[in-house]
Amino acid sequence: MCGIIGYSGHRPAVPLLLEGLHRLEYRGYDSSGVAFEQAGGLHVVKAEGKLSALEAKLEGLAHTLATTGMGHTRWATHGLPVERNAHPHLSQDGKIAIVHNGIIENFQELKEELSAKGHTFLSDTDTEVLAHLIGEERKDAPSLCEAFARALRRAHGAYAVVMMAAEEPGVIYAARMAAPLLMGVGVGECFVASDIPAFLPYTREVVFLEDGELARIKGPAWEVFSLTDLSPVKKSVSYVPWDMQAAAKGGYKHFMLKEIMEQPRVITDCLTGRVLEGEDGARVVLHELDHMPVPTRLHIVACGTSYNAGLWGRQLLENVGGIPTDLDIASEFRYRDPQILPGEAVMVISQSGETADTLAALRLAREKGCMVIGLCNVVGSSIAREADVVLYTQAGPEISVASTKAMCSQMVLIALMALYYGQRRSPAVGDAGLLRELCTLPERLSAALPVMQERAAQLAPRFSSARSFFYLGRGQCHALALEGALKLKELSYIHAEGYAAGEMKHGPIALIDPQFPTFALALDDALFAKVKSNIQEVLARQGRVIALVQEKDGRAPDLAVEELWVLPSAHPVISSFFALPALQLFSYRMADYLGKDVDQPRNLAKSVTVE
Ligand code: F6R
Repeated sequence: MCGIIGYSGHRPAVPLLLEGLHRLEYRGYDSSGVAFEQAGGLHVVKAEGKLSALEAKLEGLAHTLATTGMGHTRWATHGLPVERNAHPHLSQDGKIAIVHNGIIENFQELKEELSAKGHTFLSDTDTEVLAHLIGEERKDAPSLCEAFARALRRAHGAYAVVMMAAEEPGVIYAARMAAPLLMGVGVGECFVASDIPAFLPYTREVVFLEDGELARIKGPAWEVFSLTDLSPVKKSVSYVPWDMQAAAKGGYKHFMLKEIMEQPRVITDCLTGRVLEGEDGARVVLHELDHMPVPTRLHIVACGTSYNAGLWGRQLLENVGGIPTDLDIASEFRYRDPQILPGEAVMVISQSGETADTLAALRLAREKGCMVIGLCNVVGSSIAREADVVLYTQAGPEISVASTKAMCSQMVLIALMALYYGQRRSPAVGDAGLLRELCTLPERLSAALPVMQERAAQLAPRFSSARSFFYLGRGQCHALALEGALKLKELSYIHAEGYAAGEMKHGPIALIDPQFPTFALALDDALFAKVKSNIQEVLARQGRVIALVQEKDGRAPDLAVEELWVLPSAHPVISSFFALPALQLFSYRMADYLGKDVDQPRNLAKSVTVE
C-alpha cells in the first residue's frame, strides 16, 4: 500500500509534493521519490528509508521553478525496499515517468516480451515494466494518452498510476483499477492522490475516480476518459468536510475501526495473483513454496493475535493440506529445545516481522538446520529477511496497536497454503467450495460489515458494566474465542478468558453468575450441537449469553440466550471471516463506549521487540 501525489498548477511543485507525502506518512514508508519537470525534461530523485532522506537529497537541487510533478512513498510488495526499487520509474528512453500503487500480476510475462525487444530494467519492480510498456506503446500510438491507455489495457491486476512525460509539459495523467486514486480541484491547480489528506490544506473539492477511468490534468483543466475507448466520462465534484485528523483515518473515528472495515480489501489484496482460473476450475498459486519440498510436519510459532491465526489454521493445514501441524507460543518454543526432524519445517507468523520472541524462534529453527517459512506483513522486516521463504500477507500498514486486519490476512494466506499443499499432495484433497467462497468473500463481507457495526453498537452499552467475560468456541472457533477475549481485554481492560467450550465443565464454569457474561461462538459447523449444549450449561447457572450464530435455511437457530447475533450463512471455514470482525467490532465498541484510548491502549506497543 503506497502513497501517491501528483500536482499541476502555479506553485512550486516539489515542496508541495513533499508536504503531501508527509501527510500520507500513516500509510507506511520504506522509500520515496519525486519526479518534476526541469529544463524541458524529467528529473527524478529517490531515496531509501524515511522521507527525510529524500528531503536531504533534494536540498540544494534546483527544483523551485517546476510547477508540475509527482511523488510516491513506497510500501514494498515486489522487490526489496531499496533505492533502485523506489518510484518514480522511467521508460527505456527516460522520457516517461510513472508512480504506481498496486500489483501488475502479469509483469513477468510483459517483462520477457519487452526484454526480447531490447529493453533493460534497473529495478525488480512490476512498475518499471509498466513504464517501459507505455514507452513501447508510444512508438505506434497516435498520442501519449492513447499509449498510456493501451499499456494499461494490457496490465492485469490492481493499479493507481500517475504519469508525466517530457513531450507534454505541465500535464499529468492518472488512472485507476482496484486501487484508490482521486483528484483535488483547486483554484488554478489540480492534485491527484491516493488519499484525501495529501491535498486537504489546498482544496476540499474532490473528484473520485472509478475503476477503468483515466484523467488528464493540466493546471486548472481536467478531463476524465474511459480506459476502454477513451470516450469522455462526466464526473461530479464532491465537497469533503473532514479535518486533517479525520482524513488520515478515512473519516473513521479511529484507525482500528478503519482497519476493521478495510478487511474486504485486505482479502482481495491477499488473493490477488494467488488464485488462477484454469480449465479445470480455480487453483492456488504460491510460487514462493514451489521449490520447497512439502514438509512432513509444520511447526507454527507466533505470539498474540498471530498465534491465534496459527491456531485457527492448524486444522485446515492438517485436513485440507494434509500436513501434520503443531503450534507453539514463540516465547515457549525458543526455550524448550523443540525436536524438529529432517523434512519438517517451521512457520513463523508475524505482522510486524520484528517481534523479538518470534525472531528468536526463527533463528533457533535455522540453527537446527530447519527450513523456515515466514508469514509477514511488513516487507523487508527482520523476519522477512531471515526466513528461507517469505509469504507476504499484503494487509497494508496496520496503525492501530490492536491487530485486526493483519489476522484476517494471515487467515486467508493460511487457507491458501492449505489448499496449495492439498493440490500438491493430490488434486483430490483440496476443497473447491472453500476456494470459490474465498473469492466471493470480499463482496459478501463488504455488505455485512455495516450491519455488524450497528449490532456491536447496540450490544456494547448493554454489557459495558461487566468486569469479566468468557469467550467460548470449539474447533476453529476456539481460536476466534481466544482472539475475541484478547481484543476485549487489551482495548477495554475488562478481564476476559477465551476457552475451548468443552473445557468449561472442568473448572471454569464455577465462575459463572449473572455478572460474568459469556460470548459464545455457535456457528453453523459440525460442532454446533456440542456448543449449544455448552451454552445450556451456562444458562443453567444464570449466566448471560451473547451467541454468535448463523442462519440455516433462512432461520436463526433456536437458542434461549439474552442476545443472538446472526451472521450470514457460509462455508464453515469462511464463517470465521464474518465472526472475526464481529468480535473485533464488539471489543471496539465496548472500549469506545467506556472512553478508552482505542488506538493506543495503555501498556502496549505495536511491535514487541523485547523479550
Ligand atoms: C494484539 C496484538 C499482539 C500481536 C503480537 C505479535 O492485538 O497486536 O498480540 O499480535 O504482539 O505481533 P506480530 O504479529 O507483529 O509478531
